[in-house]
Amino acid sequence: MKNVRVHLGERSYTIRIGADALGDIGKVCLRHFRGARALVVTDTNVAPLYAEKTLASLAAAGVQASVLRIPAGEASKSMRQLSRILDRMASMRLDRGCGAVALGGGVVGDVAGFAAAVFLRGVPYVQAPTTLLAQVDSAVGGKTAVDHKLGKNLVGAFHQPIAVVSDTSTLKTLPEREFRAGLTEVVKHAAIADARLFSFLEKNEARILDRDEDVMGRVVATNCRIKAKVVEQDERESGLRQILNYGHTLGHAVEALAGYSSELLHGEAVAIGMSAASRISCAMGCCASGDVERLTALLARFGLPTRMAEPPKLAVLKRLLASDKKTRRGSPRFVLMRKIGEVEPEVEVPPRLWRGALAGS
Ligand code: NAD
Ligand code: GLY
Repeated sequence: MKNVRVHLGERSYTIRIGADALGDIGKVCLRHFRGARALVVTDTNVAPLYAEKTLASLAAAGVQASVLRIPAGEASKSMRQLSRILDRMASMRLDRGCGAVALGGGVVGDVAGFAAAVFLRGVPYVQAPTTLLAQVDSAVGGKTAVDHKLGKNLVGAFHQPIAVVSDTSTLKTLPEREFRAGLTEVVKHAAIADARLFSFLEKNEARILDRDEDVMGRVVATNCRIKAKVVEQDERESGLRQILNYGHTLGHAVEALAGYSSELLHGEAVAIGMSAASRISCAMGCCASGDVERLTALLARFGLPTRMAEPPKLAVLKRLLASDKKTRRGSPRFVLMRKIGEVEPEVEVPPRLWRGALAGS
């Protein structure tokens, strides 16, 4: 078992990473929920796989738990599901000495985390991520949200979990496409902050795609360390944390265009966005073409898309980017790559470069 500590003063917490880590979730909750009661929020795909194991661990530790299942998929990051979770928290009479467990991917983590942020102005919660994307990214750092019809993640709060329990054995049941989509955020962390991790990924492609337990434990822990270091310096995204949005400016636009559907997963959209951002970086003289080639080649070897056959018209892109959280005074801000392992946040990019970068030219 590996432990990674996120140092945030009184909001510090530990990320526990390893095969069968879910077996310890009862002990973790008992330590933090003085009232020994918990609401486990999960989704309809994850519940049949991991709810029993989670409940058994909670029961063994003497934590009384109730389960709420939300439909699997991005559409559940909604006011409707938020409201269902809050209703259940209220009817269970949870108090600040009790809490929630978010058992699932980024969708469950974001909506259950937001419910925990607003119920009684904040109750504790534990993230128990079961997708690669959630283990390396969304479960760490305290960003919680639901989507709004005018944009993704428009309604949310910063609310740090009191612990993260990342059971790497859960990755075995993840559909292939979801696993590969999670690799996008792994490549992102390497590209923005860790050239050594990038080389490791290039050399260990086969073992990663095989989901080798040792390699995945190491990959998840390294990614959590990278993310923790950034969040520790800029918890509320007033500066440095923006580098974690690498690939997300155009990525979110591409994701919105696909209607947040299974046509294009979040990780796939960000893979296109990162590739486009690297091409823009090169066109603006910020990085060398060799770095663009390394990035797009690694994404492609992980089976991820790196371009759009038919990018939307510029007017459509402008409209989509206008509601992006990174847009300032009507002008979207990009994170650009200086070289593998180093990026520059808050760059204005001439709109004439957007479409070509998405198309791969
Ligand atoms: P997801 O939660 O929709 O999970 C993907 C699919 O895998 C779902 O169908 C789910 O039911 C299923 N699943 C989950 N775990 C499984 C397992 N172990 N075995 C089998 N099936 C399993 O998607 P995601 O990719 O985990 O998360 C995407 C969301 O995360 C997006 O909404 C994105 O905006 C958000 N996100 C948030 C942050 C943050 O910092 N809060 C960061 C990145 C992404
Ligand atoms: N995934 C971006 C962030 O956590 O800031």
